[in-house]
Amino acid sequence: MPVPRIAWEHLPASVRHAVEALIGPVVSATTVGDGQNSAIATILQTRQGRVFVKGLRTDHRGVVTQQREAAINPHVRAVSPELRWRIEIAGWDLLCFHHVDGRGADYRPGSPDLPHLVAAMRRLAELPCPDLPSVYFRRAEQRWADAISDPAAREVLAGNAILHTDYNPANILITSDGHAEIIDWAWPTKGAAWIDPACLIPRLIACGHSPASAEDVARECPAWEDADPAAIDLFASALTRLWSEISQDQPGEQWKRALAVSAQQWHEHRSAAMIV
Ligand SMILES: Nc1ncnc2c1ncn2[C@@H]1O[C@H](COP(=O)(O)OP(=O)(O)OP(=O)(O)O)[C@@H](O)[C@H]1O
Ligand SMILES: [Mg+2]
Repeated sequence: MPVPRIAWEHLPASVRHAVEALIGPVVSATTVGDGQNSAIATILQTRQGRVFVKGLRTDHRGVVTQQREAAINPHVRAVSPELRWRIEIAGWDLLCFHHVDGRGADYRPGSPDLPHLVAAMRRLAELPCPDLPSVYFRRAEQRWADAISDPAAREVLAGNAILHTDYNPANILITSDGHAEIIDWAWPTKGAAWIDPACLIPRLIACGHSPASAEDVARECPAWEDADPAAIDLFASALTRLWSEISQDQPGEQWKRALAVSAQQWHEHRSAAMIV
C-alpha cells in the first residue's frame, strides 16, 4: 500500500531544525509526486543549492530500506547521486541526496532514453561488488527463494554483480545533458548480472514493448548474452508468479496488474520460443 506522503512543513519542528543544521535554512520545499514508499520525498532549496530528502518514520516496517540505500550508496556512485547524510531524529529516518536535475525515463519503444539507461546499466554491471551484510544487500538466491523452491535450481541466480532490481521508470532520472542516474536503491541485491536486464523486461512491456523488443533492449547488456537461457526462463516464470501474487494482494493498484500481465506475456514468449 502506498505510504501517505506529507509535506516538509508537516515534519516535526525538531526534525526540520536538525536538517537545517546540516544544509542551512530551507528557502522552499517541493514535495515530489513520483514514488509511493516514502512518507517524505521533497526537494529542498537552500542558499547553497538543492538537495533531495526522503524518509520514513522509524517505526514503519519499510524503514530497513533507508539503511539499505545508505549502505549501497558509496558503491554505486558511478550511476547514482551521492548520499550526503542519513539521520535518525525524533522518530524519523531521513536520507539526503545530491539533487539530480532530471526527469523520469520514457520507456516506450524508440525512446531516446533507453540507450542512456542501458549505458548506466552497463556501467553498473562493471562495478566491484562490496561485501555488505545480507540484511542490507540481499543475495539473489535467497531473495527469490519463495518463488523458486528448489535450492539447487535457484543457484543460477547467484553471482557477483550489484543489482538494482526495481526498474520502475520513475527510478531512472534522465538529466538535461542526457545521461541516466539510477535512484531509489531500496532493494540492492547481489547476484548474476543478467538479473537486472531481466527485471527491466516486464517494465518495458508494460510501457508498450513487445516481449521481443524488450529482450532486444536487454540484449544490449553484455551479461544477457552470456547468461544460460534456461536460467532466464526460470526467472521469467518466477517473476510471473511474483507479480501475479502481488497484484492479487493489492487489486486496486493497476500498475501491479499491468506488470503481472507483462511478466506473463514475457514468460509465454519465452515458452513459445522453447517449443519452436
Ligand atoms: N536525488 C534526487 N534528485 C532529484 N529527484 C529525486 C532524487 N531522488 C529521487 N527523486 C525523485 O523523487 C521520487 C521518489 O524518490 P524515490 O524513488 O527514491 O522514493 P520512493 O517514494 O520510496 O519511491 P518508490 O515508490 O519507487 O519506492 C523519484 O521518482 C524522483 O522523481
Ligand atoms: Mg522510486
